[in-house]
Formats: sequence, C-alpha cells, structure tokens
Amino acid sequence: MNVLGIETSCDETAAAVVRDGREVLSNVVASQAAVHATWGGVVPEIACRAHLETLTPAIDEALARAGIGLGDVDAVAVTTHPGLIGALLVGVAAAKGLAFALGKPLVGVDHIEAHIYANILAPFDELRANGGEHEPPFVSFIISGGHTTLFEWRGPGDMDRLGETRDDAAGEAFDKVAALLGLPYPGGPSVEKAARAGRRDAIRFPRTSVGHGAKHRRPLDTSFAGLKTAVLYYLRGQDASRPGAPGPYAPPEGVNVADVAASFQEAAVDVLVDAAVRAVERRGVERLAVGGGVAANGRLRERLEEAARRHGFRLFIPPRSLCTDNAAMIAGLGYHNLRLGRDVGLEIEARAR
Ligand code: KG4
Ligand code: ZN
Repeated sequence: MNVLGIETSCDETAAAVVRDGREVLSNVVASQAAVHATWGGVVPEIACRAHLETLTPAIDEALARAGIGLGDVDAVAVTTHPGLIGALLVGVAAAKGLAFALGKPLVGVDHIEAHIYANILAPFDELRANGGEHEPPFVSFIISGGHTTLFEWRGPGDMDRLGETRDDAAGEAFDKVAALLGLPYPGGPSVEKAARAGRRDAIRFPRTSVGHGAKHRRPLDTSFAGLKTAVLYYLRGQDASRPGAPGPYAPPEGVNVADVAASFQEAAVDVLVDAAVRAVERRGVERLAVGGGVAANGRLRERLEEAARRHGFRLFIPPRSLCTDNAAMIAGLGYHNLRLGRDVGLEIEARAR
C-alpha cells in the first residue's frame, strides 16, 4: 500500500511516499530556513505562504521520485498536530482535497508520535537484514525545537509520557544561544558547527537536572531555561544573580564564540544523556530510540552511543534526514493509523496542540 505523506507543521514543506509503513520510496523536504533566516526565527505568516507555494511542487516531486502517479496512491496521511495552526491548515486542506478527489482514505497523524516512528522506518535495509530489531517497545526521547519529551512507546497509539522539559525545549535553547552568539538561523546546526573549534570545558555552565532525588514527582523532567540564561549572563559578563534584559544579540568583544558554543552544547548534551539513561533504567526497557531535530547533533549522538555501551542498552537514532521534520515519518505512521482506524476520514482537523 502506497501512502502519500504531507507535513507542514512548522517551516519545512514535506511530501513523501512510503510503502506498507516501512519502505521509503521518496522523501522530499523543501526547507524554508533561508526565508526565515532574515528574521532570526520562524515567522508564522511567512511559513503559511511558503507552504502554499511549495506544497504542490513537493508532492509532484515525491510522486516522481517514487516512480508512481496519483492513481497509485492508496491513502493520504497528513500531520494534524501539534504545530503552527496556519501552517498545519495548509497541509490538512491540501490533503483533504487530494483524498476527496482521488476517492482514497485520509488519515491524520500526530507529529510527535511520528518522530518516534521515524526509528522504525529509518533503517529499512538493516531491518530486513536483522529481522525486526527495531520493533517496539522502547523508550523514546523526542528532542526538537518544540519538544523535549521522553515516552515509552509500545506501538502506534500505545504510549506513555515519562517526562518532559519544564520550560524551553532543547532545540529552542540551541536556537536562542545561537542568536545570542550572533550565529545564523537555524541555530542548532550553527552552534554545532561553531562548537567544533571550541573547548567543551572552557566554561562550566549549569546542568539543571530536575529529576535527581527520590522526592521528585516527575523525576524524568528536564530544564533548559537556566542554561540558556547562564549563557546570556556569561556574555554580558554579569553575575547570574543580577537580573537584566536579554540582548544585545551580538557576541561582546573578546568573547570566544567557539568556546561558548562548545561549553553550552556539552552542558545541554549532559542533561539530555542523563535523562535518557535514567529513563531506560527506571523502565527496565533495554532499547532507546531518539528522534527530533536535535538528534541530528553529532556530539549528542556520540555521547548517547557511549552511554549505550556503558549502561548496556541498544540505541537507535534515525539518519539525520529522518530526525528533522519530514513527511516519510508521517506516511509511515499514517499507514498504521489507517489500519487501526485512528483519525481516519475527511472530518479530521488541524489543531495547534
Ligand atoms: O524536529 P525539528 O526539525 O522541528 C520541530 O518539530 O521542532 O527540530 C528543529 C530543532 C531546531 O531547534 C534546530 O535548531 C534543532 O532542531 N537542530 C539541532 C541540530 N539540527 C537541528 N540542534 C542541535 N544540533 C543540530 N545539529
Ligand atoms: Zn518535528
């Protein structure tokens, strides 16, 4: 069964064709990063307009690369939530029109669960070779611009939330620190690049571990706002106890941007790895699957691999192209939702949360 996936929840316009929920026949992502870079972040109205302009060509390209025509599409899957509401509406409206015109089923997909599902899709060749190593259940850590959430995922629709950030998402912290350092949007890749030339131990930024100690009711929560603020105060040469307005958005004279980037990245990675290891140990699940844009970070991948060796769990991380927003994960999970009868029908609606 060929499922056409459509994803427009934020600033990537994406379309993909996935066969039987596993085999990625095409995965087209038209990034709007260049459009939003001028503004230093995603501008919702500009994102909607760009989706409108780019979605039809992206769908055409996804079909062409998959070597199929519209008549070979068996179902249309689309992200319904969470995301920017105007941006989601563009994808949902297009998907409804297409499904109606083709007389094929329409299915809605949760973007966050789809990031988890990317782990099932990703290593398809590998999967065929090793016969199902990537099957759930696993602990899944979705680390993106909007979420930093730990789940236990037992299969489509069958999951528990174990913990999440109390404030900023990890990707948001990368984006804000990049802005403070005068590095270009999107911030995550810019910080990672700058960090390569820096020393990880140059500055000791705080690691806010919410969950240590038995008294915590939500022991697997994380926090990134304190770390971001520590970078801000460091750049202003101030004591963190003294309040102040954010900015200026350029590194002060004499600041070693690479050292700040590397030290910040190391602190953020420490917090993430610590939470992941504790989640795996608490749940007694021997597999960790990571996803979301921040999972593209090389230092995080390296440190998670190290932790997996040390603590004896299996680690799955999709290739970078399936960590950041894409429609293959939407088509993949959409196939299962359709089989389960979840969110199927022309009455599905976009919603921000
Ligand atoms: O999953 P995603 O593409 O979109 C959301 O659903 O949010 O994640 C985007 C986030 C952004 O905050 C971006 O800066 C971050 O992922 N990101 C990275 C890297 N690549 C993307 N953060 C750190 N290092 C990277 N290499
Ligand atoms: Zn995402």
